[in-house]
Amino acid sequence: MLLNIEKQMKAQLSDDILDALKLCSQTADEHNFKIYLIGGIVRDLILKRKSVDIDVTVEGDAVKFCHLLAQKDYCKILQVQNELKTAKALFDGDVEIDFASTRQEFYPHRGQLPVVVKIGCSLEEDVYRRDFTINSLAMSLNKKNYGEVIDYVGGLKDLSNKKLRVLHDNSFNEDPSRILRALKFAARFNFHRDDHTKELQAKYINTQMHDDISWTRIKSELKQCFSLNSAKIYDMFLVNENYKLVYGQKPEIKGLEIKTLIDKYNPYYVWLVYLGTVLTDDKIIEQFCFTRSEKKIFTDIEYLMNNHLSMMNSNYDIYKFFVKRTTESILVYYLLTQRKEALKYLENLSLIRVELNGDEIKAMGIENGREIGEILDELLKKKLNGTIVKKGDEIEFVKNKIK
Ligand code: CTP
Repeated sequence: MLLNIEKQMKAQLSDDILDALKLCSQTADEHNFKIYLIGGIVRDLILKRKSVDIDVTVEGDAVKFCHLLAQKDYCKILQVQNELKTAKALFDGDVEIDFASTRQEFYPHRGQLPVVVKIGCSLEEDVYRRDFTINSLAMSLNKKNYGEVIDYVGGLKDLSNKKLRVLHDNSFNEDPSRILRALKFAARFNFHRDDHTKELQAKYINTQMHDDISWTRIKSELKQCFSLNSAKIYDMFLVNENYKLVYGQKPEIKGLEIKTLIDKYNPYYVWLVYLGTVLTDDKIIEQFCFTRSEKKIFTDIEYLMNNHLSMMNSNYDIYKFFVKRTTESILVYYLLTQRKEALKYLENLSLIRVELNGDEIKAMGIENGREIGEILDELLKKKLNGTIVKKGDEIEFVKNKIK
């Protein structure tokens, strides 16, 4: 029996979204277009989960279709991509919809981005370029069968069996970032890869050289996975040997340990704490085109690991070792070495400051810059070992020096 999810749509989507989709539906019928909701949103409607993106596929030219909507003042076109014939439009109530033309893709080089071979193909042809069966469901938006789910690949059965299954054996060769997408969906929905998908994944990871893969996609999926701050994702990442994708080594770390530290110390780049424990290959770090502040985390990790002090005797030694390093890198250093000094620094020493500044010391009568620097350093030592606590004591110390 055909599944119709119009009721679910009404229950889960806002009135503004439903209105926007009705306008699309009317326009499609008037101009003989077949249009569908596609991918994640259909999956999420069936799973009764909240979905973020609204993706509509147009059998034909989605840009042309979007212009028809705009001519009727139903929406404002925000973006058009003429090569792929995709468009983004804004409807009343701040509803954004992404429109894509049905397309067939071909991967000329393993792992590299695909090239489009046909735009405006049938829905069935479009579906076969996708990653997992559960993401390959469409739902008709034409009035005749509004809400009807179209399932060419057994996605409905896999959804009810909580299975992640690729559409064909070449799937990971074509796009290895799907290995990480499987991880994300497995953790998010508590789904499992079917046995054949597991085998294909293990085969890819263990037998392929990954030099020629799209690092942009890998980076984006790693960011999505690890930004979830999920212990489970990290543990699965290690158990499934996904770290091999980035030429990493398997560390003896549990996801829960990382999560606990992140929850306590609140680093800005959560995902890089997870990734930092496995990503050590300079060539790959380069491939990831990190921003300057992201990159600093990796140079800091390298610094800490290479300059690793066998003994950090005083609080001052500990302070000096960590002071210019990012919180993320200090956490990774702790995870990899279990050196308690790292936590002592984050928890305690990093908060200690000398309150007097250079100008104040100068005003007290010390002119020479080098001497001022030395006094500040001595004050820091004393504050760190607790012999000086208050600003008044700092002033006393400087006065005694002058005497
Ligand atoms: N897709 C794919 N291969 C990829 C990325 C995406 O086949 N490497 C397809 C999937 O069919 C997916 C759709 O493109 O459903 C949209 O991609 P995206 O928005 O990344 O995925 P969602 O499934 O919507 O995931 P999320 O819920 O995380 O947004």
